Amino acid sequence: MPLEIDVLTLFPPMVEGPIRESIPARIQEQGLAAIRVHDLRRWGLGRHRTVDDYTYGGGAGMVLRADVVAAALADLRRPDSVVILLDPAGEVFRQSVAHALAGSSHLVFLCPRYEGVDDRVRAMCDREISIGDYVLTGGELAALVVIDAVIRLLPGAIDDASTAEESFAAGLLEYPQYTRPAEFDGVSVPHVLVSGHHEQVRQWRLRESLRRTLERRPDLLEGRALTKEEAKLLAEVRSEPRDP
Ligand code: ADE
Repeated sequence: MPLEIDVLTLFPPMVEGPIRESIPARIQEQGLAAIRVHDLRRWGLGRHRTVDDYTYGGGAGMVLRADVVAAALADLRRPDSVVILLDPAGEVFRQSVAHALAGSSHLVFLCPRYEGVDDRVRAMCDREISIGDYVLTGGELAALVVIDAVIRLLPGAIDDASTAEESFAAGLLEYPQYTRPAEFDGVSVPHVLVSGHHEQVRQWRLRESLRRTLERRPDLLEGRALTKEEAKLLAEVRSEPRDP
């Protein structure tokens, strides 16, 4: 059964373009996911198919109407649906959320424009997700980020080795990678990687993942349970003299 995804947006082409390209397109062709994009105006009111209105109390911009969203969800929601509102006030999106969503059977993404939604819309949604602490012009790009991260986790979507690599060092930044030429601009590929010693390569990669995470995102190491090997390698990295 494919993961079914419905996207509600006022700008369908913004969403349709990216999902028709590259790996997302292939994942759909393989039947692992089925993504449908709907124009919210289909549920708009009156001759002008109005979907938004002025905010009570005054202020700049228009907000998405609750009755319009309710009508759209009345048509799309099923017992197994997870309805997601993209909103900067939502839970910050991370890989663990992507994994949780990849285990669903039906996702509905609601992409507001303008100044957001009538607050009563929140009660109609199961989750509110933000892709980070910055403000976009609408939820479309955020929905695409979430969809992309979720569908690549579907079994068979990408090379099993790639997802295995991810769980090998889950929660750490990726280790450095190299391809030919073996020397470029005076910088050589680390010797261990061309040595053919699989075990040494594995350990080098784990150490470098830990090093990179320590240097760039020490917050990721806090509260992460380390294996015995990881703790040993991290202690080694910490005791090395720092690069000037
Ligand atoms: N809409 C506007 N900004 C957003 C963000 N950072 N995440 C999700 N939806 C948004």
